[in-house]
Amino acid sequence: MYGVAVAETAISRIAADGSLSYRGYAIKDLFERASFEECAFLILEGHLPNREELDTFVSGLHSRRKVPKNVYRLMEELPPTSDPMDILRTAVSGVGAAEALLPAKEQEYSLIAKMPTLVANCCRIVRGMDAVEPRDDVNEAENLLHMLTGRRPDSFEVWAFERELILYLEHDLNASTFTVRVVASTLADVYAASTAGIAALKGPLHGGANEASMRMMLEIGSPEGAMPYLKEKLSQGRKIMGFGHRIYKTVDPRAQLSKDMLKRLLAHKGGDGRLYRVAEELERAMWELKRIPANLDFYAAPVFYALSIPIEAYTPIFAASRSVGWVSHFNEQLAANKLFRPDSIYVGQHELTYVPVEQR
Ligand code: COA
Repeated sequence: MYGVAVAETAISRIAADGSLSYRGYAIKDLFERASFEECAFLILEGHLPNREELDTFVSGLHSRRKVPKNVYRLMEELPPTSDPMDILRTAVSGVGAAEALLPAKEQEYSLIAKMPTLVANCCRIVRGMDAVEPRDDVNEAENLLHMLTGRRPDSFEVWAFERELILYLEHDLNASTFTVRVVASTLADVYAASTAGIAALKGPLHGGANEASMRMMLEIGSPEGAMPYLKEKLSQGRKIMGFGHRIYKTVDPRAQLSKDMLKRLLAHKGGDGRLYRVAEELERAMWELKRIPANLDFYAAPVFYALSIPIEAYTPIFAASRSVGWVSHFNEQLAANKLFRPDSIYVGQHELTYVPVEQR
């Protein structure tokens, strides 16, 4: 079922011409000029922060980044073969259990502040590495990138990564955000709603697409390999990850911003630009064959790759950023709450007679 309006929202808008805005500000403008923290505040509070509001918000995030030790133990108890998204989902439940008695507003800020710490550490745990503590002297992007890669990124890398986090912050009623609103409508807490959001995001038709796109680009390896690869997979009826969107049918504006970021990042890092050429040729060939555009996940993936982030962290990174949108939708739902309880169309059998098991 699609195309049915189930809520009113003032958080983000995808206009009929395919342009995206957060709280009325064009994504392109925010992408070029704003910080992640400013955009997060905007999405949560409905207006851009003044200096004092921003400073308070930032220091509030910094002071809440650390995760209770028992949550690390919970994460480490899971099999080392676990998917990081499964560890993340469990960890958010763990934080929720530990913070059940906090006031609701506190819970929301705590969750948003802790998500990067949880994301970095669930990705470290599957690599057999010890948990790492967050820093409290750098912004969200630098902190997360540092924890994920174990090295101090340069300022351009931080800026590039921050741009991707801004693109992932919020996107109207996508599958995970809708899931969050359904759970919110039952008056469950923000951890329960976000755990459900993480579960929905994991799937390859949603957040899981960025990791699948990267693995595809690496498998193809060269621009010449793109067209034959697509023809083969499409002839088998396979979906190509990182392409297509329920709303964007000609261009995903976030993908184009991300593509530009990839070009600039690869130029900054030096190298032969092969990754960019593979991605661009895949995009061109997919358009030629199917008239299906690349989406954000397709171009965010090689940006993360160029930043030396392990592939299994891409979907968790999406979750860390999108948690801001989830929390904002959680509150918007509660502000005018009505329990979601849609109807279905019954297509089953009628008026059958029960027969005892021995007689069937
Ligand atoms: N690869 C191959 N074919 C695709 C495709 C893709 N990535 N995306 C859509 N199509 C095909 C559909 O199979 C359908 O074909 P059909 O008419 O022969 O059955 C046709 O294009 C129209 O699809 P549509 O109904 O408009 O798309 P949708 O709204 O059902 O699907 C997605 C949207 C996102 C679920 C879909 O594009 C997809 O699965 N993409 C890959 C996963 C992905 O990148 N997800 C992240 C989204 S941000």
